[in-house]
Amino acid sequence: MEGGRSRKGGLPRVFDVSEIVRENLDITLRKESTSDKTDCKNTGRVYTPRRVVDQILDLAGYRGPGIVGKRVVDNSCGDGAFLGAIVERYCRESRGNLKRELEEFVFGIEIDERAIARCAERLDEMAARFGARDVRWNLLRANALSVEQYDGTMDFVLGNPPYVRVHRLGDSFDAVKRFKFGRRGMTDLYLVFYEIGLNMLSENGTLAYIAPSSFFNSVAGEAFRTRIVEDNLLASVVDLGHYQAFKAATYNAIVVLQKNRAASTTKYYEYDGEPRRVDELALEDLYFQNAFHFLNREDLRELKEILTLGVGDKFEVKNGFATLADSFFIGDSVPLSRSIPVVKASTGKWTRCVFPYENGKLVPWEELARDAELRVFYGSAKQRLKKRSITNRDEWYGFGRSQGIVDVPKRKFSINSLLRDEKDLKLVDCPPGTGVYGGLYVVSDVPFDEWRNALVSERFARYVASLKKYKSGGYYTFSSKDLKTFLEYSFR
Ligand SMILES: C[S@@+](CC[C@H](N)C(=O)[O-])C[C@H]1O[C@@H](n2cnc3c(N)ncnc32)[C@H](O)[C@@H]1O
Repeated sequence: MEGGRSRKGGLPRVFDVSEIVRENLDITLRKESTSDKTDCKNTGRVYTPRRVVDQILDLAGYRGPGIVGKRVVDNSCGDGAFLGAIVERYCRESRGNLKRELEEFVFGIEIDERAIARCAERLDEMAARFGARDVRWNLLRANALSVEQYDGTMDFVLGNPPYVRVHRLGDSFDAVKRFKFGRRGMTDLYLVFYEIGLNMLSENGTLAYIAPSSFFNSVAGEAFRTRIVEDNLLASVVDLGHYQAFKAATYNAIVVLQKNRAASTTKYYEYDGEPRRVDELALEDLYFQNAFHFLNREDLRELKEILTLGVGDKFEVKNGFATLADSFFIGDSVPLSRSIPVVKASTGKWTRCVFPYENGKLVPWEELARDAELRVFYGSAKQRLKKRSITNRDEWYGFGRSQGIVDVPKRKFSINSLLRDEKDLKLVDCPPGTGVYGGLYVVSDVPFDEWRNALVSERFARYVASLKKYKSGGYYTFSSKDLKTFLEYSFR
């Protein structure tokens, strides 16, 4: 790796757990398997396939004779998917005392005792293939969030950190909130691993992780983005897009960060089982409106234009009804007297919805209850409706949220917000007196035919894809704001 710095013989071996690890190995292997799936979401334990590991090591520059004498850590090493490949590469390149070098230059941290035991065994097997036996591995069984002794010492930090959303952090919540990258929004443990990884890097070190790509534009990712920009860290990005590298319902990217690099551009790749180089981007190409965007330069220019010029007041795009009890309020057999036709925006299908409102206001219960059929209909569901998360319990017979209610008297158009291409769009003309649920709707004085043509277009589909809000099955989603921006841009 260009610019990598080695610090031979510097670190004290703080906690060599390899002996303990071997003792526990038998118990470990017996206990393995059942708890793996349940643990997965709480500990972020999803292991990386070898092919992907090799691609990441290549992108990071952990290859060739230059890796000899370079310190490397995987700070959430699991059972050693990365460290196994790292040790193999190191063994191939080393011309010196292999056992001593492996002890001096390869490091792992892992919180899970069973996983680290398997890691030790894997590394033993690998080293033995190259004639190195009884290596005292620097494998630390610890919570990486409280490991500071490696700070500033690693030439490479490589791995696949745990992804654990804020609501599953449990005991780690307070620890995570102490980190700059973990403070805001719906944070995730992987963001904090970027921070501790950067802390561990030496002056010219390189970090490469495969992790969720949500930091490109999330509120939680803002502090991380700022650091990347301020320190010119972003060397390469491989956006995996819809590609699922392992069984985890997340959308990932391989990100290579490099300290003190000479270049100011970022190599951008897409992925189809292998990274495919798309473009080399300057920061001003890819960073705008407080978010990272990765496309080829031409598409980036178009996206930037839409996002910056798409302001105005010709269109209102809103969310439909949120009853918080659709199975009660909506269906073909609700009482006719107090119901209106509604369309489900996601499917374009019509049905009926109990609508206890007049002039945008909830009708008093005493008045509604004069209708015997309605009284009976509500009667059986009172407890259930009261249990919804509503602010005013006296309004138990109304919708959970007020959105969409005032626009019932207006003409509007429902639209689904999940598409692969423009053929997937479902626009439904909803006359006054009808409602929309399960998606978005548009209200505008611009003639429908005109803006429909703008939307049912390859350009709109390309815009939605470029926002990169991935959904399973190759779909993309978009928000009411995204749609409004495009419409205002098209009719500016
Ligand atoms: C996504 S897995 C990746 C493991 C391995 N790097 C790989 O690629 O196969 C993340 C690992 O982080 C570990 N982990 C979770 N929280 C941790 C923490 N606070 N400190 C160290 N390791 C942790 C999990 O036990 C799991 O083995």
